[in-house]
Amino acid sequence: MRGVRVLLLVGILGMVVCTWTLQLNAQPEDILLDDHSVFKSRERSPAAFRHMYHISNGIECKTCHHRFKGGKNILDETELQEGAEGIKCSSCHKQTPGFRFAPDLDPTKRNLQQAFHRQCMGCHRQVSQEGKKAGPVTCGECHPWKKKASQS
Ligand code: HEC
Ligand code: HEC
Ligand code: HEC
Ligand code: HEC
Repeated sequence: MRGVRVLLLVGILGMVVCTWTLQLNAQPEDILLDDHSVFKSRERSPAAFRHMYHISNGIECKTCHHRFKGGKNILDETELQEGAEGIKCSSCHKQTPGFRFAPDLDPTKRNLQQAFHRQCMGCHRQVSQEGKKAGPVTCGECHPWKKKASQS
């Protein structure tokens, strides 16, 4: 009787560990943010983003991912699967030519560059104002200058 119970317990534990790792695996680890099909002639280098590093710093999915309805973020986290449609920021935030940064812009008209900058730098600024260790806010830290591949 005792052996059966132990087996059962081991089985349940195994299942818990499996679903946990599966969930972690559903999220990309590091991402190179490189929307070159949108930014056809890039001014800056693509930005490296350590996705899992941010998650393990305690930031929730819906802090960054959203689907708004009536001003509320109604995104269901189970929709957040690699390759799923409508997750990429560029699927909603479009890039309009000749844009100028306008802080009072209608948020629904936030273009792709502004959407990224507001989300990434906005949080880094806020966290560092709280006196905590935050991410970079200067251009070169996210967009490092490097030699063109053809020059090396
Ligand atoms: C600090 C912000 C942030 C947090 C927190 C975050 N994500 Fe992301 N995630 C991003 C960004 C930015 C991308 C890249 C989107 C793009 O390429 O347009 C991304 C991409 C993804 C993708 C890949 C989409 C694809 O197919 O290319 C998945 C899946 C994903 N996130 C799931 C999650 C889940 C699940 C959580 C919570 C456990 C989470 N994310 C938390 C910012 C975040
Ligand atoms: C399904 C469409 C959709 C996707 C995908 C999406 N957004 Fe948004 N986003 C919106 C809408 C709509 C708003 C305006 C919400 C409101 O009413 O305030 C918004 C607002 C924002 C804002 C707030 C703008 C402000 O100034 O208040 C930021 C920043 C932002 N998005 C960044 C991102 C980033 C970064 C990603 C990718 C991780 C992303 N969005 C993915 C639709 C989307
Ligand atoms: C909600 C808050 C939040 C958002 C949104 C966010 N970050 Fe961060 N980021 C942090 C914090 C906090 C740290 C520092 C964590 C630590 O080291 O303690 C950080 C660290 C970083 C670092 C340094 C990582 C390292 O290797 O030390 C980079 C680069 C970075 N973020 C890029 C980005 C980019 C790009 C985006 C937008 C796609 C973004 N972050 C969005 C909070 C945020
Ligand atoms: C926290 C990280 C971060 C910082 C700091 C930052 N950016 Fe960005 N920037 C991004 C991300 C992410 C994108 C979207 C890249 C993509 O998807 O291809 C972007 C896109 C851009 C683009 C559009 C793409 C291109 O190369 O033409 C330009 C221009 C740009 N940034 C310039 C700047 C300048 C200038 C500064 C300093 C004032 C700056 N960025 C600071 C993360 C950052």
